[in-house]
Amino acid sequence: MTKRITIVGGGIIGLSCAWVMARSGWRVTLLDGAPEAREASWAAAGMLAPHHEAHAPGPLWRLGVDSLACWPGFVEDLGIAPAAVDLRLAGGLMPVFDDGDAAEVAARERFLSAHGIVARWLTPTDLRHHEPAIASDCAGALLLPGGQVNPRLVCTRLQAAASEAGATIRYHTPVTGSDDAGVHLANGEVIASDEVVLASGAWTPGLAALAGIDLPGEPVKGQMLRLRAPDGVLGRFVHCQHAYLVPRAGLGLVVGATMVTSGFDKSDDPRAIERLAAGARRLVPTLADAPIVEHWTGLRPRIAHGLPVIARIRPGLIVATGHFRNGVLLAPLTADLVRCIASNQLSPCDLAPFSCPGLPTV
Ligand code: GLY
Repeated sequence: MTKRITIVGGGIIGLSCAWVMARSGWRVTLLDGAPEAREASWAAAGMLAPHHEAHAPGPLWRLGVDSLACWPGFVEDLGIAPAAVDLRLAGGLMPVFDDGDAAEVAARERFLSAHGIVARWLTPTDLRHHEPAIASDCAGALLLPGGQVNPRLVCTRLQAAASEAGATIRYHTPVTGSDDAGVHLANGEVIASDEVVLASGAWTPGLAALAGIDLPGEPVKGQMLRLRAPDGVLGRFVHCQHAYLVPRAGLGLVVGATMVTSGFDKSDDPRAIERLAAGARRLVPTLADAPIVEHWTGLRPRIAHGLPVIARIRPGLIVATGHFRNGVLLAPLTADLVRCIASNQLSPCDLAPFSCPGLPTV
């Protein structure tokens, strides 16, 4: 009999799991109370940047490196051209303006070269050639492997592909709990399942609590904005100590992001938006008069140990959350790992670091 899997959470992690599992022959139902993939996945800038985000080698960095390698095939399997989701793999820059940047870049270069990752130092002349819009007082930049994608487009494509592969995608469908009978919906329906995947980002600890599981985690608010700018102002993302800029085809530049721990509060801080915009204009002076066309807030899911949780924590109950600053990057590999866990197959990487703090993996 075809096995039934219910995925709770319709962001990029849940949608990726739904698509991968439906393609693998599972009967998939995805549930989310929101009208569409709106939360962290919609908010994200879409950097695929394991080397820029990790400060040292470790399980998160390795997971990111492996997931970065999955992205081209993931998009190809969706049956679309990379441009359809603005997938670019031209690397990303870490520019140097001061001693702090120089120290950060030097440390990064050391740890990466010790692990065989080739980073290229761009002198100011090289930089002017590759990214002429970057401020002329920049002392150079490290070009690291990586890329970017438009996560909003990816979610739309994943939803279509998962449906096409046979998954039932139900937004506007709040979940009130899960137990041995299945997943309980606010309307009283119970979805019987062989496996349930909790993949609701920052809301996962709350859902886990309904199933009697203590998943220690908290949301981390990020404010972001988009500046109007012509295509080509930057060819690749730029990641500085205090901000990052990501070009988005036809849509200008996405600038992020704050890191604030204030529960589920999503209120705006206009000063934070102005600070981010000022940082972007400092980095790319031609943006001096570029208007802010949109700004928004997202809640990143952070688990206490700072790592994602990708684990079966009870027979029939898998958790895939805590991707924090790297949900978009980690979506393809997470979906594959969830597939392995659900199918009791050997996983392609060591899952021990991604267990739930304080709970055994089953
Ligand atoms: N990965 C960037 C962020 O979470 O802001």
